[in-house]
Amino acid sequence: MSPNPSNRPIRSFVIRASRATDSQRKALEQHWDTHLIPYEAGPLDLKKHFAESRPLTVEIGFGMGDSLLKMAQADPQSNFLGIEVHRPGIGKLLHGIAQNNLQNLKIMCHDATEIIANCFDLQSVERLLIFFPDPWPKKRHHKRRIIQAEFVELLATRLAKGGLLHLATDWEAYALHMIEVLENEPSLINCAGAGNYCDMPARPETKFEQRGRRLGHGVWDLVFEKAGS
Ligand SMILES: C[S@@+](CC[C@H](N)C(=O)[O-])C[C@H]1O[C@@H](n2cnc3c(N)ncnc32)[C@H](O)[C@@H]1O
Repeated sequence: MSPNPSNRPIRSFVIRASRATDSQRKALEQHWDTHLIPYEAGPLDLKKHFAESRPLTVEIGFGMGDSLLKMAQADPQSNFLGIEVHRPGIGKLLHGIAQNNLQNLKIMCHDATEIIANCFDLQSVERLLIFFPDPWPKKRHHKRRIIQAEFVELLATRLAKGGLLHLATDWEAYALHMIEVLENEPSLINCAGAGNYCDMPARPETKFEQRGRRLGHGVWDLVFEKAGS
């Protein structure tokens, strides 16, 4: 993220004050060390953290983690790494990982922009997912949106050739911003054809999506492929 005049990075999140439930707190205490990968500003040794070497899917901002858990259960031939800073959500996902004894899903608790910049080798990720990122609707907050040209350029460098970047939002103005930014990134190709959103995305419904639909919002999915073969 670009620095602001005070030189502090502009964050795309605020740490929400909501309290963890007893079960989430217990999971945070019991399973943190087993399923959390500690953040260090250096290349991540995936072999050390996953039982087997498999194609990697990274989800940024998994929220309560229900959809990430479903994806990891449904696809044991892939490894999944979820990035989130909201501890009750991390507790909920840890509980799910432990209950289902999942070996192919790990978590990192840190700002995703720093993790992507510092921890992943070039072309090391098969799929990057960002579902229903905070839309920061007020104009003066647009700089806090995670989808910015600079960050998308960085994401694209971490994607393997032929890998996918999948975004979704329930905020039309953000969808328009996303498609403009992604289509301006020369190494990404819109799988739905220029100017189009994706009609039949293969992903479980997320918690924020359900909330958006209850409020009468539409949903826009964008699926872009990294150029090359
Ligand atoms: C609006 S919620 C959506 C959660 C989930 N994807 C869903 O659809 O239910 C956005 C989430 O992204 C997380 N987030 C935002 N910016 C982040 C960042 N830079 N690093 C890690 N997590 C981030 C927030 O903590 C929040 O939980």
